[in-house]
Amino acid sequence: MTIPDIIIAVDGYSSTGKSTFAKLVAGEFGFLYLDSGAMYRGVALAAKEAGAIRADGSVDEAALQALLPSLELHFERKEGATRLFMGSREVEAQIRTGEVGALASPVSAYPFVRAWVDERLHAFAAGGRVIMDGRDIGTTVFPDAQLKIFMTADPMVRAQRRYDELSAKGGTDTLEEVFQALQERDYRDSHRETSPLRQAPDAYVLDNTHMTLHEEVVWALGVLQGKFGLYETPGLSC
Ligand code: DC
Repeated sequence: MTIPDIIIAVDGYSSTGKSTFAKLVAGEFGFLYLDSGAMYRGVALAAKEAGAIRADGSVDEAALQALLPSLELHFERKEGATRLFMGSREVEAQIRTGEVGALASPVSAYPFVRAWVDERLHAFAAGGRVIMDGRDIGTTVFPDAQLKIFMTADPMVRAQRRYDELSAKGGTDTLEEVFQALQERDYRDSHRETSPLRQAPDAYVLDNTHMTLHEEVVWALGVLQGKFGLYETPGLSC
């Protein structure tokens, strides 16, 4: 079965499993996976390291703006995974901390940061055959993406998944605290002025509250087959 060289946009709330889903789809159908959230996390890390985050956690807008012209972020494939680099330094571990994740939310609300990231996402996706996940990929970054998917799941189920993930890494937050933080992040991401998280009207909704990863990929295959008139069913490796 040949899927055309399209752009697939995957948006949705945090902890809905967007990146896991997008990575699996990329692997099954030979697409390049790009994580737009990693770019915002990269900018947040750069801001932290450059002292553009004040002691009270607020963002020094002028300092943030000043660091962007010399900031270089890109992805590289390493051991089968796509990793973020800041210049020649791999920063994958540093951008995945809770602290940097929390900073990425206010940093991503600045229109000049979004413009900076969007410009790079367009360059990375040139040539197509890309699946990109984020919050505004199908609405703002690639409004003409040939396939848009909006992921959602029951908030408590999402909190439980996040809690399990954090606990496995030695985190000590309670389920209630994780649930609260998730609610706050959802609110901030969907109420900011620039590019809020919204479902594109032409997006296919994937609610994975009660789905396994295999079922999610089978669902994606069904959508691709229906949309592009492909009737042959390939074997899936997941
Ligand atoms: O998906 P994530 O947790 O890695 O995203 C980190 C932050 O970046 C999150 O607060 C939302 C923001 N983000 C965004 O505003 N737009 C995107 N396209 C992707 C992420």
